[in-house]
Amino acid sequence: MNKQILLDNLRVIPDWPIKGVHFRDVTTMFKSPECIQELSNAMYDLYKDKGITKIVGIESRGFVLSSAAAYLLHAGIVLCRKPGKLPCETIQQSYAKEYGVDTIEIHKDAITPDDVVLLHDDLLATGGTMKAACDLVKKFHPKKIYCNFIIELQSEFPHARDIFDKDIEVTSLL
Ligand code: PRP
Ligand code: ADE
Repeated sequence: MNKQILLDNLRVIPDWPIKGVHFRDVTTMFKSPECIQELSNAMYDLYKDKGITKIVGIESRGFVLSSAAAYLLHAGIVLCRKPGKLPCETIQQSYAKEYGVDTIEIHKDAITPDDVVLLHDDLLATGGTMKAACDLVKKFHPKKIYCNFIIELQSEFPHARDIFDKDIEVTSLL
């Protein structure tokens, strides 16, 4: 994978959305066709032998690569959304974020015990969002859960990976 092209296309916004947060803006990577190709191929290489049947994309920036990877891996896509956006019955999970509290939800019929699930989001900071998504997906009793991020803020949040259950494989592309 050409990491340099990805880093060259990542924009950092100081003090957004609140003072003290250095916001990694992946939209500048998403608008580059080369970056989209690098990122989707990297996800394919990582998970091609894992038998992934569903990719859970986390709102909103997690939706983008979930879609490209689902196409390449021949998997289905499940939307993990903020409350009130999904039209049918859902299961919810609340969590603390780097800046605030939030809730996420998934349709009750979106995942079955036969599924091997890959959860994807753009960024791992505190890990609160992905941990909540994992806890939510666990309620569906899938065969196996994998987690993937584009970016991991390891120097700012060195213990983020520690909050995940040990049976969940966590990887980041950068
Ligand atoms: C950002 C990011 C992750 C989460 C990471 O989403 O896209 O989902 O924060 O932070 P954490 O590891 O501390 O939980 P945000 O809440 O800004 O939502 P958005 O993608 O809808 O803008
Ligand atoms: N979500 C939580 N912290 C973030 C950060 N520093 N940059 C981008 N998204 C984030």
